[in-house]
Amino acid sequence: MKIVFANPFMPSTGVAVVFATDTGRFLTSASKLDTAAKGALTRAVKGSKFRGRKGQSLTVMAPASAKLNRILLVGLGKAKDIDELAAQSVGGEIYTHIGSSGQTSANVMVDEIDGVSMKTAEIAANIAYGARLRSYCFDKYLTKKRAEAQPSLKTLRITCVRSLNAKSLFQPLNRVADGIFMARDLVSEPPNVIYPQSLAQRARELSKLGVKVEVLGEAKMRKLGMGALLGVGQGSARESQMVIMRWNGAGKDSSPIAFVGKGVTFDTGGISIKPAGGMEDMKWDMGGSGVVIGLMRALAGRKARVNVVGVVGLVENMPDGNAQRPGDIVTSMSGQTIEVINTDAEGRLVLADALHYTVERFKPKFIVDLATLTGAIIVSLADQYAGLFTNNDTLCDRLLTAGIAVNERLWRLPLGDGYDKMINSDAADMKNVGGRGGGSITAAQFLQRFIGATPWAHIDIAGVTWSKRNLDTVPKGGTAFGVRLLDRLVADYYEGK
Ligand code: BES
Ligand code: MN
Ligand code: ZN
Repeated sequence: MKIVFANPFMPSTGVAVVFATDTGRFLTSASKLDTAAKGALTRAVKGSKFRGRKGQSLTVMAPASAKLNRILLVGLGKAKDIDELAAQSVGGEIYTHIGSSGQTSANVMVDEIDGVSMKTAEIAANIAYGARLRSYCFDKYLTKKRAEAQPSLKTLRITCVRSLNAKSLFQPLNRVADGIFMARDLVSEPPNVIYPQSLAQRARELSKLGVKVEVLGEAKMRKLGMGALLGVGQGSARESQMVIMRWNGAGKDSSPIAFVGKGVTFDTGGISIKPAGGMEDMKWDMGGSGVVIGLMRALAGRKARVNVVGVVGLVENMPDGNAQRPGDIVTSMSGQTIEVINTDAEGRLVLADALHYTVERFKPKFIVDLATLTGAIIVSLADQYAGLFTNNDTLCDRLLTAGIAVNERLWRLPLGDGYDKMINSDAADMKNVGGRGGGSITAAQFLQRFIGATPWAHIDIAGVTWSKRNLDTVPKGGTAFGVRLLDRLVADYYEGK
């Protein structure tokens, strides 16, 4: 779908999208079209429950005396409630009504609205962003595509005053959407297509955007002493990889910020094998790495003025004659030893080495890691919040605030000595599982043992990486949760504005 911007005009073909607020009042273009269509819109409203509320809409087909194929009237709700997120939802909603309607072009007529705090061009850009986010569709493996579900819309034209402003406001948002789409693609791909080397290859493609990409194979990682990560991959026929991506958008002497992602391209549980039901979901156990790769794409795409490092640890967790056993003791790159009690608690083993490597090599200002780390976080927070664990209150506030701004919400959970003790082992420096309680917290405590004094946040995204239902700007499937959040964190706090 192409999205273009133009100054206001009266469309004469395709679909016209016009608006009303919750007083039931038509905005200018709605009134004009109503007049041109001899009151068809007013009559349609009278014959319906449409009151201009947010989420309400009404379609008028082939109005006599206007040449349009249809008019879509969309409710905006109260003018004072219209903000970035609301405008994005409206865009998403518009797309759901016309994206696969059979129409190929639409004109969204964004008029000035009394009592709104945003500029019209900003509203227009955010409607476009929401529509693009909602238009995502992963159907490359369907050979017989159902005609009704097929996207038909080729051009979405947004018209408003100062449309050049709207167009330039949309640019960076559109680049973030590219990163979101990449992350969604990566988690949606099946695990026979995405495995450590093929995922590393997808990351390599970012070099086109000016990202420096390095890939470490098993030999290099063995030299570096990454026994924790390598142990997880040792039962797999696929070679484990670590990918280091660097985007230098700021001055040479500005130390980088770092993002680290768990990339288990398939998690069977290993010898501590998972039950069969739902195991296919474990294709998206590389969600954290997908987000870090998508985020690098977003930041490079919009040429963010910041130095960023993205590191992803890529492994496949398989049972095999050569697989790691419960009871094995591995030595991590940090030198600390780990007793592997449960081979299904593998994400933390991968991150242990990825985090230590990142701290030691880059000495970043801070690290944020993302991981589909624990089933326990789904028990705690369902799909409503991701779990946040951090050793730094400033970073905490910034992340919480960014999350609210982009509707990728976080909830902070505690860390503490009492929880840390739960992963002490008699046989090694630590074990990879705690007791029965606080499973997400003991997982976070484990990670904390590998980051030293660096400001750090861990985001457990197990509950939010895959959505079972359609949301306004997130179709069901891979959500890319974290790309928008961290792009916003960077934009609001780390671009030296
Ligand atoms: N990848 C899983 C966590 C997960 C579960 C993600 C469900 C998404 C949906 C992780 O590797 C895992 O298996 N965790 C175990 C840890 C346990 C063995 C201590 C879990 O949560 O059961
Ligand atoms: Mn597991
Ligand atoms: Zn896992």
